[in-house]
Amino acid sequence: MNTLLLLPNEESIDLACELIKNGEVVGVPTETVYGLAGDCTNSLAIKKIFEAKGRPNDNPLIVHISSMEMLEGIVSYVSEDVKTLAKYFWPGPLTMIMPKGKSVCNDTCAGLDSVGVRMPDNEVARTIIDRSGIPFAAPSANVSGKPSPTKAEDVYIDMKGKIPLIIDGGECFAGVESTVVSMLGETPIILRPGVITKEDIEKVLDKPVKIAKEVIEGVLDDKAVLSPGMKYKHYSPNAEVIIVKGDIDNFISFVNSDKSEGVCVMCFDGEEKNFKVQTLSYGKYDDPKSQAHNLFRVLRELDKIGAKKVYARCPQTEGVSLAVYNRLIRSAGFKIIEV
Ligand code: TXA
Ligand code: MG
Repeated sequence: MNTLLLLPNEESIDLACELIKNGEVVGVPTETVYGLAGDCTNSLAIKKIFEAKGRPNDNPLIVHISSMEMLEGIVSYVSEDVKTLAKYFWPGPLTMIMPKGKSVCNDTCAGLDSVGVRMPDNEVARTIIDRSGIPFAAPSANVSGKPSPTKAEDVYIDMKGKIPLIIDGGECFAGVESTVVSMLGETPIILRPGVITKEDIEKVLDKPVKIAKEVIEGVLDDKAVLSPGMKYKHYSPNAEVIIVKGDIDNFISFVNSDKSEGVCVMCFDGEEKNFKVQTLSYGKYDDPKSQAHNLFRVLRELDKIGAKKVYARCPQTEGVSLAVYNRLIRSAGFKIIEV
């Protein structure tokens, strides 16, 4: 299959709508990461998404909408808390898990009776949903297990020959995927942290929000989990990634004493000059949003420079940093050392 890579304009957006209506899969930009969009009501389209990604079929997809009216049929119940959060955070990087409605096909939800929904804050994505009239299901547009794509070029590398069209909407703003929060019970539970934090949600709802323990702990593959995506190895470059906790001086002497080949460092801005090996900064030490923005780009760059072993400075675990930490520990396969 020939894969077109087109800038967003009337024609390319019409083509994207046509393709999605016809059950095809299109690479689209969102404010978080690029997604692989297909009609959430069409099981053949959904099968194509799983195939293109090589995604385990027990891992459900997120449905993307462009208006509150579209929720009808996609979910069977909209709680007051959901309405409140939608008012504050939609359009935006918040996915809410709700009871599944009849119009979404079972494959989209991997057979679960719940569905994740979000309204993306990206002009191109919303125009495609509006114009086609189709709420699309979209996972991140990477091959399963690889870092999520934050540029159209990343999608092209992973999806060339597998999908007919990618719309190039430039670099994604947030850089990490949406916050996923389960709204199925009385207490909201964060299943995947993002740039909308537990504290943000607590403030708006004026009640406590939980964070699932799997967010920072490892999960054995055969364990029952709240969100299937928790149990898969994720975001991994070819290199072995090791997170190193400890102050910067200890980090520097530890890394500089490793003489093996292909060692690289992921550090914060301004720290680069201390190392004898190749270094990539993934943002400012005290600015987790900049780290979120750069993380996946840097993880993908490691492959391009042929890194074999990567020592990464450890992010904080509060607020937006938790999203960065959650992705980085997965890319490291939970390997953390302290110096
Ligand atoms: O920012 C994002 O959310 C991006 C863009 C494209 O919108 N999408 C994305 O999708 O990250 P994906 O498929 O890579 O991640 C979806 C996550 C998975 O961890 C999945 O297990 C979880 O959401 N999820 C989806 N539906 C769920 C459900 N009904 N119950 C529990 N977890 C669910
Ligand atoms: Mg993903």
